[in-house]
Amino acid sequence: MTEEKVELHRGLRDVYIDRTTSSFIDGNIGKLLYRGYNIDDLAENASFEETIYLLLYGKLPNRAELDEFDAVLKANRRLPGEIIDIIKLTKNAHPMDVLRTAISALATFDPEVDDNSKEATLRKGVRLTAQAPTIVASHARIREGKDPVTPNESLSHAGNFLYMLSGELPEPEDVRLIDKDFVLHAEHGVNASSFGARVAASTQADLHCAVATGVSVLKGPSHGGAAEEVMKMALDIGNEENAESYVRDMLSRRERVMGFGHRVYKAVDPRANHLRPDAKALGERKGQPKWFSILQTVSEVMEPYARRGICENVDFWSGSIYYLLDIPDDLFISIFTMGRIPGWTSQVVEQFENNILLRPRLQYTGPMDLEYTSIDERE
Ligand code: ACO
Repeated sequence: MTEEKVELHRGLRDVYIDRTTSSFIDGNIGKLLYRGYNIDDLAENASFEETIYLLLYGKLPNRAELDEFDAVLKANRRLPGEIIDIIKLTKNAHPMDVLRTAISALATFDPEVDDNSKEATLRKGVRLTAQAPTIVASHARIREGKDPVTPNESLSHAGNFLYMLSGELPEPEDVRLIDKDFVLHAEHGVNASSFGARVAASTQADLHCAVATGVSVLKGPSHGGAAEEVMKMALDIGNEENAESYVRDMLSRRERVMGFGHRVYKAVDPRANHLRPDAKALGERKGQPKWFSILQTVSEVMEPYARRGICENVDFWSGSIYYLLDIPDDLFISIFTMGRIPGWTSQVVEQFENNILLRPRLQYTGPMDLEYTSIDERE
């Protein structure tokens, strides 16, 4: 057997596939920029609405631009009745499967579905960003036998999501946490789901196809599913005293501690730095500080791994924040998805603007030139 001589890049590790102006990551020092702006400034000062505008249109909006954009987002929150019917039919599935199905179905209602021009793609990205929280919240209520809540135009994107989930006006501090969480998840280089979205776009499939692909890829526990796994681990640990032995046992079995490690960051993920104090303050505010204490102990046990570049990532703290906001654990990835749709849209526009089919190769290692025998002659 001959083996082709090729340079293999398994997992596309450190392979640059194109240029981008959407985001910049320096994994060695834990630096993240969206369109040139530091995530530290955006997380502390920008609303999700401003961040969407920045990613889609390449600049921070002035007041008039933001007001106009916000009105368009709000006007697109409602879903066609047929989508609600589809959510009812699929209500027992995982929320990410329902979200992916609803996004696919929305393609059939979007008048610009086949228009891959920059302008139409941005408009569709705005519509999908506006519609995703309504899908997720409607499904969460329908599966509990409740009616979906009509979107409230007096509330922000984050506030309206919490409102549609519970049916009650949310606390401003809770809204700020979800808003910041959306900002922190909005864009992140060519991670697995953005790569998936780009592959779809590279075939000139439309934005709905690309976003449905992104949702599919994000669902995996090695990517967006980690936040849910971290909180399951914290619940399983149960109290601070058990945390150290629990993690040491995991590591001795060579299991991965969810919420740690990253393909690009070899320092602490800067997004985790923002969520850590929020998780602590929220736990104290809700009278449940133990989840922070458990995760803090997990983090301390993992400290020696930092020397190998295995540090906290964004998912380590986000799960405990969602949990303390009474959000069911299987919705955690959907919240990540709601934040990420602007990033996928921005990268799909980039892919369309300078398109090249994303088509790598595989090294063949199987047998060669076998003799075909007729079925009656086979053993
Ligand atoms: N816990 C313990 N050890 C780990 C962890 C972890 N979380 N992550 C990586 N390692 C170890 C691996 O076992 C491996 O060790 P070895 O060289 O002795 O075999 C080494 O670090 C390198 O790991 P790779 O899998 O090669 O790193 P890769 O870049 O492919 O993986 C990934 C990155 C998938 C994120 C990985 O760190 C992981 O599985 N983490 C847990 C899941 C998680 O938190 N995912 C969310 C990532 S952030 C996001 O998607 C938003």
